[in-house]
Amino acid sequence: HRPCSRVSKQISGMKPWPYPRIIAHRGGGALAPENTLAGIRKAKELGFAGVEFDVMLAADAIPILMHDERLERTTSGSGAIAQTAYRELLKLDAGSWFSRAHAGEPVPSFERAGRLCLELGLWANIEIKPAKGFEAQTGTAAALLARELWRGAPVQPLLSSFQPAALAAARQVAPELPRGALTDGIPADWESWMQKLDCVSLHCDYRMLLPQQARAVRDAGYWLFCYTVNDAAIARVLFDWGVDAIVTDRLDLIPPDFS
Ligand code: G3P
Ligand code: MG
Repeated sequence: HRPCSRVSKQISGMKPWPYPRIIAHRGGGALAPENTLAGIRKAKELGFAGVEFDVMLAADAIPILMHDERLERTTSGSGAIAQTAYRELLKLDAGSWFSRAHAGEPVPSFERAGRLCLELGLWANIEIKPAKGFEAQTGTAAALLARELWRGAPVQPLLSSFQPAALAAARQVAPELPRGALTDGIPADWESWMQKLDCVSLHCDYRMLLPQQARAVRDAGYWLFCYTVNDAAIARVLFDWGVDAIVTDRLDLIPPDFS
C-alpha cells in the first residue's frame, strides 16, 4: 500500500475523518445475510472497525434493520415492512435466503443491532432508510434511539440518508449526532443541501464521482464517503482522490487495514 493514502488527505484546517475508513456494507457485506446480527458479528470477526446498516420502521413504528420496503427478497415473509408489526417480523427468517447455515436468523430491531455494535466496539453508520411516506417519522425514531443507545459512548454513530426530510427530522430531535447526506451522483446544488441539513459528510455512488468533485467537496470542508466499492484497485484510486471512507460488500477483498 502506498503511504500517501494511509490517512485521509489533509486539507488545512479540516479535521481528519475520525471514523473507520473501510466499512462493512449492510452488516457483513457479501459474507452474511444483509442487515442481520450475524452480519455485524462477521464484520467484527474479520477485524472490521465499522459497519453500515439500514434502518426502517415496522408498522408499529419500531425501528428495524431492513433495506427493501418489502419482505420478499431477504425474509421468509411477504408484504410491506410498513404494514407489518415488529412482533410479526420476529417470526420471520432473514437468513435462509442467504444460506442454510443462517436459517432462523432474525430480523433485528435497531436497538438490538445498536447494542451489539456497542458491545463489540464497532462504529456504526446508520442509514435511515424510510419507506415512502415515512421519511420524517423514521428520521425522528432512528435519531432518538441512536442518541439513547450511544449516550456516553466515546464515538457517536453517523446518521445518513438519501431523504432530506429524514435528515431534517433527525437534526431536529438529536442535533448533536453527526449527519451525512446520501446521493447517487453529486448534484450541482450539493453545497446548499449540506448547509441546509448541517451535514458533516457527503456519501455518493463512486461510479458517478469525478476527481474534481471529490476535491470540491473536501475543499469545502466536508468529508467524502463512497458506496459500494467492491474492487481494491478502485478503492485505491478513490483514496488517492481524497475520499475519506468507503463501504464495501467484499470484506474478503478489501480488508479493514487496506487504506
Ligand atoms: O449507505 C451507503 C449505501 O448503503 C447506500 O446504498 O442501497 O445499499 O443502502 P444501499
Ligand atoms: Mg445502506
